[in-house]
Amino acid sequence: MKSETTERQPLIPAAHFRQQLSATRRGARLARLLAVQQLADWGWARDGEAVQTAALLVAELAANAVVHGRVAGRDFLLALAVSPTAAVVPTTPATLRIAVSDCRGERLPAPGPASQPTDEYGRGLLIVETLAARWGTEPRPPSGKTVWAEIVLGGGPMG
Ligand SMILES: Nc1ncnc2c1ncn2[C@@H]1O[C@H](COP(=O)(O)OP(=O)(O)OP(=O)(O)O)[C@@H](O)[C@H]1O
Ligand SMILES: [Mg+2]
Repeated sequence: MKSETTERQPLIPAAHFRQQLSATRRGARLARLLAVQQLADWGWARDGEAVQTAALLVAELAANAVVHGRVAGRDFLLALAVSPTAAVVPTTPATLRIAVSDCRGERLPAPGPASQPTDEYGRGLLIVETLAARWGTEPRPPSGKTVWAEIVLGGGPMG
């Protein structure tokens, strides 16, 4: 007889991570490294699809925050949040929400048209659109914004 637990989606506890980082190339690189480390600490395989996808999304959003959303002397913020799957809502898969907040609320992300293979810029948000289940932008009072992207997680930290 199958046990009840093998038929249910594994429980993924809610988890949160926030880190303020300097709005520099180094800060953007650190955002990606910290995100991978945090997901690994939460039990996700470093070389698994979820972590690799999350790393790409963090890299693109953080790069945009330091290139396009930078305000001199101000940091940007990386936040990761895993929503819980639980017996409470067993049909709802867990999602990882990546949120990158910068201080330039008056300038918003503007995905370009499909880029040419030779284009050097304008690919980041196309990558985000392709990889994320959902993404968007929210104001972050008093003068900033948050660009967020969500991916649906698989069958659990080891899945
Ligand atoms: N955080 C942000 N703040 C302000 N503007 C942004 C932000 N992110 C993106 N944008 C705007 O959206 C445009 C498209 O972003 P996208 O990441 O697709 O391309 P890119 O950053 O110009 O080039 P690439 O990512 O290929 O190096 C940017 O050129 C910029 O004008
Ligand atoms: Mg970009």
